[in-house]
Amino acid sequence: MKSTALVAGGVMASPFAATAGFYAESAAVEIKVALIGCGGRGTGAAAQALKSHPKVKLVAMADAFMDRLQNSLKNLKEEMEGEGGDRIDVPTSRQYSGFDGYKKAMDHADVVILTTPPGFRPIHFKEAISRDKHVFMEKPVATDPAGIQSVLETAQMAKSKKLNVIVGLQRRYQNSYLEMIKRYQDGMIGDITSAQVYWNQGALWVRPRKPSMNEMEYQMRNWYYFNWLCGDHIVEQHIHNIDVVNWFKDQTPTTAQGMGGRVMRVGKEYGEIFDHHFVEFTYDDGVVMNSQCRHQPGTFTRVDEILTGTKGRIFCRQGRIEDLKGNVLYQFDKANKENNPYQEEHNLLFDAISKGEYKFSNAEYGAHTTLTAIVGRLATYSGKVIDQQAALNSGLSIQPEEYSWDATPPVLPGDDGLYPCAQPGVTDYFKS
Ligand SMILES: NC(=O)c1ccc[n+]([C@@H]2O[C@H](COP(=O)([O-])OP(=O)(O)OC[C@H]3O[C@@H](n4cnc5c(N)ncnc54)[C@H](O)[C@@H]3O)[C@@H](O)[C@H]2O)c1
Repeated sequence: MKSTALVAGGVMASPFAATAGFYAESAAVEIKVALIGCGGRGTGAAAQALKSHPKVKLVAMADAFMDRLQNSLKNLKEEMEGEGGDRIDVPTSRQYSGFDGYKKAMDHADVVILTTPPGFRPIHFKEAISRDKHVFMEKPVATDPAGIQSVLETAQMAKSKKLNVIVGLQRRYQNSYLEMIKRYQDGMIGDITSAQVYWNQGALWVRPRKPSMNEMEYQMRNWYYFNWLCGDHIVEQHIHNIDVVNWFKDQTPTTAQGMGGRVMRVGKEYGEIFDHHFVEFTYDDGVVMNSQCRHQPGTFTRVDEILTGTKGRIFCRQGRIEDLKGNVLYQFDKANKENNPYQEEHNLLFDAISKGEYKFSNAEYGAHTTLTAIVGRLATYSGKVIDQQAALNSGLSIQPEEYSWDATPPVLPGDDGLYPCAQPGVTDYFKS
């Protein structure tokens, strides 16, 4: 599965003509932004949007929870004081909570920032593009194959409407990675023969259950540990590393098989996700990407990507390229030349929008690379070889039938309070 939009920096090779609509006619007006999902990343992204261009104004916010929204607004005002804080204009009448708040927030905006847990991304993205908004959305872009199908369809709609879409796979906007992919494309390491990718770390946050919470509120608050919301950490976090290899190879793996489970993170507060995965992803040219991700305190930590070619190796974390004997062919100057790729994403997006240009269509590669990570999860959960195309075609959905505070989430705890987890060899998504 090759993606036509997989190019360095996520920037399309030749800018299209001016985007349809507002900015084409007047570059002097305000660019109104709505933030949907006001947590850690959303607050950061809103600040980056405000810093990117003096015409950017934050006009509406939506979060499932009003306390989260207000906390975000307070933090944003503090961070932006004297630096564009006057462009935060979100009175209570434009603060929305609940599952439908995103629609109301979008009423006021030209650009939307989608930073909820990824389970909601397909719905929010579709609504935004249907209503002609430019989009910055965080990775991953879905948690199941049905969500990927939806995002791929919406990506086509965005293209036909010439709406800019940036996906927060920020390594594609990071100077060191851009320098390395340039050298790879110029042949410095020859053809890629294998790759290793890692996101191994210790513990992660847990949001405790309070007596007042029903099951839906609890899962929405403690979303990391429920697949319909998060996708498991192989999708939510390790996607960054997997994406690097997909980007360099300009394709996604056709199959995956692997192993995983939960050893240290076994309590009821950890929902249903695994604490480790190891996956062998195979591309159609036979190249294997070995992927490992782990959340276990006290173990070896590493977040990195290494690509081996017929003539050399790229060590992404170090920004270094070596020949196969270990001689350094290139070393990126991290101390002086690295940028803040999170800020860069917004600088580029809002520059394009302010000039009425159509330059970014990241949704397609964001969807393909999210699918790779989902296929990895299906492989470790089932213990079977998973075919990417079959997984996509299955349209498998793990979403609830309805999104409301009274609705029943798709996974529930047993009498002991523990949630059912996948069991390799027993769990089977695609009986063959
Ligand atoms: N690119 C990166 O390096 C990076 C870093 C961190 C997070 N992220 C991504 O950003 C997203 C958010 O992560 P976070 O760390 O900010 O989580 P968070 O829990 O801090 O924030 C998520 C917010 O979304 C809200 N929310 C949940 N469902 C909602 C809905 N239906 N409508 C409106 N709001 C809703 C939550 O209440 C919460 O306030 C995730 O997809 C994550 O993977 C990316």
